[in-house]
Amino acid sequence: MASRRSDRRARAASPEWAEAGDVRRALTQRSGEALREGDDAASRVLESALRERERVERATHGFHAYPAGLHPDAAAALLTLGEGPVLDPFCGGGTVLVEALLAGRPGLGCDVNPVATIVARARTARTTEEERVALRSLCRKAAETARLAGVANFNGNGRDFTMVKGTIPDIAPEWYDPWTAVELDAIRAAIGNHAAARAVFSSILVKVSHRESETANRKVDEPRPPTTTATLFHKRAREYARQLEELEKLTAAFDAEVRVRVHREDARELREREEFGMVVTSPPYPGVYDYAQLQQLRLAWLGIDAEDTRFSEMGSRRQFRADRAEALAAWKLDTHRWVRAAARALRPGGRLVVVIADGVVAGKPVETLGPLGEAARSEGLTRVARATVERWDEGVDRMRPEHAVMYEKGGG
Ligand SMILES: C[S@@+](CC[C@H](N)C(=O)[O-])C[C@H]1O[C@@H](n2cnc3c(N)ncnc32)[C@H](O)[C@@H]1O
Repeated sequence: MASRRSDRRARAASPEWAEAGDVRRALTQRSGEALREGDDAASRVLESALRERERVERATHGFHAYPAGLHPDAAAALLTLGEGPVLDPFCGGGTVLVEALLAGRPGLGCDVNPVATIVARARTARTTEEERVALRSLCRKAAETARLAGVANFNGNGRDFTMVKGTIPDIAPEWYDPWTAVELDAIRAAIGNHAAARAVFSSILVKVSHRESETANRKVDEPRPPTTTATLFHKRAREYARQLEELEKLTAAFDAEVRVRVHREDARELREREEFGMVVTSPPYPGVYDYAQLQQLRLAWLGIDAEDTRFSEMGSRRQFRADRAEALAAWKLDTHRWVRAAARALRPGGRLVVVIADGVVAGKPVETLGPLGEAARSEGLTRVARATVERWDEGVDRMRPEHAVMYEKGGG
């Protein structure tokens, strides 16, 4: 008779597991059992990385939301599996890069989404005390101006959006109260091109809107009284300055030259050659998110045209919904292209560590480990270890697998 354990494993491997599936809800789940293969020590580290769940606020991790972030402790654990400079070709909010810095290792992060590069740069910025004082002071002044503008608008006739003047983006009436838009406009004018202040500004844009959350484009009708926006902006600026200070303290023992670079670049077209000891990354899961679409409010307020991002984004939900077979073929090809670029960027003996979950599109699973393995093999990478953890998805009452895999480049 099959054990309950193997029943659950069979269920996880069966196409049924995802039938009701909105895999995006799967991000808050309890973990089930694990499969481990290959090198014992490495596979244990991979498994532990998949199981990390506790909230971590160290250094700059807590600054600015970004969807589908790796767990900071998972990133820290994965980095122990290799040595030398670190590349994350799908860096998102920069979790791996922050942990590289905290381990005293230089890094490069790439992402096609301009908001990802803003967040990753902001989280990995090395700053002086003077720079942090200047940031706090600029943001305090901007918040004061915005507070006055918001109150004036609320008490005047600006409650009607048609009366609101300024350089407010076209999407604002749909998502913001008029006084909120006025406050945001005032902050934006006051901070100009100051990169750190713009990152703080970006961090509040969803919170003060009527959008349900960072990953749901639905509208909610919660009240956002005047001055809330200015107050939140000022609070976030103070928090961010504190987080940057902590980052400096935690990296004080390392050479000031240990830095992270962040490029807006396509992971399939990296030009780096044999520069990195490790590639640690979590590519988009097929058909789960539209990263570019999720950032539409930020792109509009920050004045960034990211039309090209929609086309260079791999595995987007939009593509999978339009034509599953075509999207799947493109995803496999893309996987091959980014693995080839990552393999080239590794030094001989370097390691590629990938965290990826299977996707779900129209109720059918999209398996990720096979195409990843094929691509790695054909680029001369050898699989060293793997862990797969079944996750219980509370939202759909099903298990689904998430994988962490480590490969090694020959010649080390
Ligand atoms: C799962 S997220 C990475 C999250 C990241 N590990 C973190 O902890 O924040 C995947 C990222 O891949 C990016 N992406 C999608 N297609 C890409 C491409 N062709 N080249 C580079 N980045 C891409 C998306 O914009 C998204 O930020």
